[in-house]
Amino acid sequence: MAGLDAIETASRDEIAALQCERLAWTLHHAYANVPHYRAAFDRAGVHPKDFRELDDIAKFPFTTKQDLRANYPFGMFAVPREKLARVHASSGTTGKPTVVGYTAKDIDTWAQVVARSIYAAGGRPGMIVHVAYGYGLFTGGLGAHYGAEKLGCTVVPVSGGMTERQVQLIADFSPDVIMVTPSYMLAILDEFQRQGLNARDCSLKIGIFGAEPWTNAMRQEIEAGFAMDAVDIYGLSEVMGPGVANECVETKDGLHIWEDHFYPEVIDPETGAVLAEGERGELVFTSLTKEGMPVVRYRTRDLTRLLPGTARTMRRMEKVTGRSDDMVIVRGVNMFPTQVEEQLLKSEVLSGHYQIVLTREGRMDVVAVHVEARPEYFDPVLLEAEAKVVVARIKDTIGLTTRVVVEAPATIERSVGKARRVVDRRPA
Ligand code: DLL
Repeated sequence: MAGLDAIETASRDEIAALQCERLAWTLHHAYANVPHYRAAFDRAGVHPKDFRELDDIAKFPFTTKQDLRANYPFGMFAVPREKLARVHASSGTTGKPTVVGYTAKDIDTWAQVVARSIYAAGGRPGMIVHVAYGYGLFTGGLGAHYGAEKLGCTVVPVSGGMTERQVQLIADFSPDVIMVTPSYMLAILDEFQRQGLNARDCSLKIGIFGAEPWTNAMRQEIEAGFAMDAVDIYGLSEVMGPGVANECVETKDGLHIWEDHFYPEVIDPETGAVLAEGERGELVFTSLTKEGMPVVRYRTRDLTRLLPGTARTMRRMEKVTGRSDDMVIVRGVNMFPTQVEEQLLKSEVLSGHYQIVLTREGRMDVVAVHVEARPEYFDPVLLEAEAKVVVARIKDTIGLTTRVVVEAPATIERSVGKARRVVDRRPA
């Protein structure tokens, strides 16, 4: 692979025709081979043959994380277990993990969409790609790895953690591209500074960041710190892993969904009604080519909206604001960590390391935003004044009264993968 796939510049009609054919295949495949889908379709009074055009997908029932858990571990697979080349699992925050399975062909499809993603980000065959997503049951490391190899890159499979060594390997191997969570990239940036190195002088030119929500303010922070292009990669294990959608470096205007493999819808999370392009709601995916574990109308709980294509004909999804599960509801106000992040990063003296802690005092919920000062600004008087400014900004934009606590550098919990942005200490 050494350029755009033909489908990336196909007309909308061609894309729709391909999706229609593939959706019909997926519905039949799921109904014939997965007892859960057969039962769910029967209960809803629909049959795969009721699908004739794209809009007919709305007749089919949704699939939820709960359905995957109920069929733990292998009940959602559509092929005999021995046909699976690999399984992955996502731990989630509660309960049993959800298990996903891939045939050899699925692994190849996945590698193709990740290769396409890296290419969209500006990666090219021959480049060195440093992968700092975790390897293992998490889809990030191996997903990125296979895609980078497929594109024809030299892969450095570092995985997450051992931050000092991350910096050393970057300095010694001169990678062009890094793939890592944006929050861990900030930890790597700090380590450059700790070692007295200027990250802007390092070899990295492209960063492909995902697995957690991050804002355009964070993009600017990372791009300024490293003199690189930072683009967004999205995906989830249930649908594939990383590489369901990716930003194009030439526009950086949201993520093009690889619509020849994943059919997107945005629904009203309350009613389940399909929303029009441009309206915000919950993202839902149906896989189009997956053999091992097809998913039909899988509810991601990620909130975004669909937009027309720009750099590619395939539609875009806006940067994900957050997951419905991460939404903090306090005193009737809804707040996402990303909204807080935007306000924090407006300040020159604050860093991108933050955590939101919820407690209860008497009958009142209290929201404390803990954020680290940048090392060069660690001056108590200045920081107290800055905290007041941020409290006012959050109140003005989100409508919530918070306490902003500016902490010393390197005190807030670091994660080597997905950052934990909200800590809820309220009594149940
Ligand atoms: O996080 C897959 C992945 C790995 C994507 C590496 C990108 C890079 P899961 O562990 O199953 O899979 O978590 C999926 O992470 O539903 C979103 O809530 C969140 N997420 C993933 N990418 C983004 C992103 C991987 N770019 C869940 N922006 C998803 C915001 C993201 N949230």
